[in-house]
Amino acid sequence: MKILSVVGARPNFVKIAPILRALDRIRPNLSKPLMSLLVHTEQHYDDEMSAAFFQDLRIPTPNHTLGVGSGTHATQTGEIMRRFEPVLFEERPDLILVVGDVNSTAACALTAAKLCIPVAHVEAGLRSFDRTMPEEINRIVTDALSELLFTTEESGNVNLRREGHPPEHIHFVGNVMVDSLHWCRDLAARSTILERLRLPSREAGGYALVTLHRPSNVDTPQTLARVLDALGQVAREVPVVFPAHPRTRARIAEFGLNRYVAEFDPAAGPQANGRLTLLSPVGYVDFFRLMEAARLVLTDSGGIQEETTCLGIPCLTMRDNTERPVTLTAGTSTLVGNDAERILSSARAALAAPMPPAHAPPLWDGHAAERIAAVLVERG
Ligand code: UD1
Ligand code: UDP
Repeated sequence: MKILSVVGARPNFVKIAPILRALDRIRPNLSKPLMSLLVHTEQHYDDEMSAAFFQDLRIPTPNHTLGVGSGTHATQTGEIMRRFEPVLFEERPDLILVVGDVNSTAACALTAAKLCIPVAHVEAGLRSFDRTMPEEINRIVTDALSELLFTTEESGNVNLRREGHPPEHIHFVGNVMVDSLHWCRDLAARSTILERLRLPSREAGGYALVTLHRPSNVDTPQTLARVLDALGQVAREVPVVFPAHPRTRARIAEFGLNRYVAEFDPAAGPQANGRLTLLSPVGYVDFFRLMEAARLVLTDSGGIQEETTCLGIPCLTMRDNTERPVTLTAGTSTLVGNDAERILSSARAALAAPMPPAHAPPLWDGHAAERIAAVLVERG
């Protein structure tokens, strides 16, 4: 059996690492040979968005790299398909495995489905019901084409059943992001990032951690200015560290919004001076440590809503909706949109409240990848 897994962008690396490990672990117990291959589309290509994750998460070197890079949606999606198809001709896998909701996920699912190669989708069924989100289109397309649908939470099961997927295609396995979180805990404990950034402990007042990269927040000058202004006000109460996605860093410069941010100054350390302390994107292990020790996280990331839930860190999600409702109902996340007043008042309330407990929604137990591997092998 030949399984070809696909990654392309930062969150994909976090999701694939435990699955590749689980396939490796199950291999010696099988009667038939199992070959596991990895393709990296290189949708993300900067070292800090890609190579750092291979290193931190011990992901093996990909068997194929596609060098796709950035582009408009159609350019990037089309280019991934064009470059992925010859890999499928060459490798003739029995199944491809895609994760998440990025352009690489949907493009590779479509390429394989057209060649009648079965597709397995990890993190299936999530829906924000907001088709202005590029990821929502990718989720719908990928699920429609997938024969194996691995879900992380009950809402995913409900959505897939409503869309008419046969129950035998839906496998509720839990969350592979949480597998990575468990795997990384000891490594993160050895990270020195808090010391390197001179960040105050919670007892000394703590700090807030921000990430921001959704087009709806960062691609229009007025919205980005409004969000940065609100975060700047939070940064008067506590130091705010902001490992900025390259898209966001570029928009801040392009829209002339540098007044809201200050590059990290090792001599001074982060200050509660009304400006966000701008960092480059941080590797997975260091980012884990930054989340775990934060007083508060403000983000529009999908994965970080889940990770803060498991770590017991309050998370203000700067979006109007989420495809991960369990993080609201059984987690630490609150939707605050991109309204300045709401961001600031919610941040003040969170900073004044005790830290929430850690949550583990059903099957977020560190063993999701093992369940996925078992289903894949069983299918044969
Ligand atoms: C993509 C995903 C999004 C995911 C995010 C994770 C899609 C449609 N979006 O968004 O779902 O949450 O990744 O981080 O697939 N860039 C660099 N270096 C890189 C990568 C990107 O400079 O290594 C810059 C380029 O200017 C590029 C821009 O970031 O145009 C956006 O990259 P892209 O992959 O198109 O989308 P993301 O915003 O990263
Ligand atoms: N992450 C990281 N360093 C950063 C920002 C995020 O390691 O500077 C990790 C984060 O812990 C999570 C993943 O990247 O595991 C989420 O990726 P991102 O927010 O880019 O994508 P999304 O989840 O929104 O699709």
